[in-house]
Amino acid sequence: MSRLDVIEMFHGISFPGHLHTQDSLQLALKFQFQDTDILITSYPKSGTTWMQEIVTLIFSRGDPHLSQTVPNWARAPWLEHYYCAAMLEAASTTPRIITTHLPHHLLGPALQGSKAKIIYVSRNPKDVAVSFYYFHKMANFLPDAGSFAEFLNQFLEGTLHFGSWFDHIKGWTCQTATMNNLLNVTYEEMSMDLHGTIKRIGSFLQCPLVEDEISNCVKHCSFSSMKDNKMVNHTLTPEEIMDHSKGSFMRNGETGDWKNMFTEEQNQCFESVYKSKMQGCTLKFVWEDT
Ligand code: A3P
Repeated sequence: MSRLDVIEMFHGISFPGHLHTQDSLQLALKFQFQDTDILITSYPKSGTTWMQEIVTLIFSRGDPHLSQTVPNWARAPWLEHYYCAAMLEAASTTPRIITTHLPHHLLGPALQGSKAKIIYVSRNPKDVAVSFYYFHKMANFLPDAGSFAEFLNQFLEGTLHFGSWFDHIKGWTCQTATMNNLLNVTYEEMSMDLHGTIKRIGSFLQCPLVEDEISNCVKHCSFSSMKDNKMVNHTLTPEEIMDHSKGSFMRNGETGDWKNMFTEEQNQCFESVYKSKMQGCTLKFVWEDT
């Protein structure tokens, strides 16, 4: 039976039934992390796939063989997807690279006391909203996006699949500020200085690379390389799941695209919701000045 139209409600958040089940979500919350695990965590459309590629390439010391032969969902599976356990068993490599979109208030207890290394990837929420909107148009496992104005309201209300962007970022940044096994990386810094960001991630993962290795990583995780890599660009995903005539997963990979989409009124409304929802969060984010 196709689960493309199924919605799983879990702890008040909706998830696409295509890859999530009540069991898989429940299992994720009880997951036994190993201290050697690497966890990539993000709200959708924040640069998750990019980070999966970067981490794969770092542990391959810039050699693209793995990233060009094994799909991202098999080498860095999503913890909450029903196939995760099977993938982790099949991979049998150390370290395990695991991905999640779950909010911190749900996954935090499973991580308590763990030394697993966590990378939180975030992005200007205005660009996240635009990217997510276009993704809704092509992904048949997501509800109809409606107009951009309607979609943006849902984004601000936190009623889209995967829940509220605001709760997600506050949970994984403000509430984890004292954790030294968590690294914050923004899409914007990857865009501005990919070389420097890869170097920083390599040191955090205790896998420092020499300059040539970093340059190879940069080459193979550039937007153009990834757009052509079938293992990440979702062209292998069947048409009934992602309609490639309606868009591409590797869409344009830019920062500030929201400026081509938001009206002045939408921007003002966004700013005011942002201000009120982020109240009490003392961290400063790179997109707040743009
Ligand atoms: P756009 O839709 O703005 O182009 P996620 O992997 O979290 O779903 O995020 C997808 C977004 O990251 C898409 O954004 C995609 O194009 C962008 N992206 C993926 N790889 C990238 C890369 N190497 N460089 C820049 N952007 C990248």
